[in-house]
Amino acid sequence: MFRTIDHPLILDELTRLREPSCDSAEFRQRMRRIASLMVPYVTEGLATHVVPCSTPLEITSGHLLSRGITLVPVLRAGLAFLDGFLDLMPQASVAHIGLARNETTLLPEPYYMKHPPALHERDIIVLDPMLATGGSAVEAVRRMKEAGAGSVRFACLVAAPEGVATMESAHPEVPVFAAALDRCLNEKGYILPGLGDAGDRMFGTCA
Ligand code: PRP
Ligand code: URA
Repeated sequence: MFRTIDHPLILDELTRLREPSCDSAEFRQRMRRIASLMVPYVTEGLATHVVPCSTPLEITSGHLLSRGITLVPVLRAGLAFLDGFLDLMPQASVAHIGLARNETTLLPEPYYMKHPPALHERDIIVLDPMLATGGSAVEAVRRMKEAGAGSVRFACLVAAPEGVATMESAHPEVPVFAAALDRCLNEKGYILPGLGDAGDRMFGTCA
């Protein structure tokens, strides 16, 4: 399942964030706000259960999430996305995955992974702003499954059709959410119109 989240506030933030004049500080803030705006959509349908709930006036019933949530930012660019998710779900645990896309082969090269135990008991949301060839997303989800994850969702800022197709073929049961579906990839694997290199823009490491 692929879904673009078509919301006026997200569209406004994303348009301003794409501009080359958007500096690193502003880029991170806008990324964080977009991530927060996406949270209600990405978490829709998570299981809850009924519990007794005391108010100052009486006892009623309420709902709590049935399972813990683990957020999985793909380093580096997933980090600003993570902040926006954590703002709305501070109780989530965080697993980090380090993947660097090889600029020649465009294949993801893993360099780090640390996750909480018992992933099979948790709802996992993998976060990476850019879904380009899809290689990094496929690898991140594969590693989470290998570590025991059963319920996995993927959230990105900008997706290319090529990346969406690759994810649907590798992990057809994983819902993929994006703020925008862009046109295509260029010959270097960058998304068009895109926003350039998200990690570099976020951390001021552009050449
Ligand atoms: C970027 C981005 C994704 C990946 C997407 O990361 O954050 O992880 O590329 O490309 P793909 O869909 O073709 O795999 P990059 O490897 O540049 O690392 P960075 O976040 O540290 O800049
Ligand atoms: N990674 C990015 O940061 N941007 C792209 O357009 C593609 C991959």
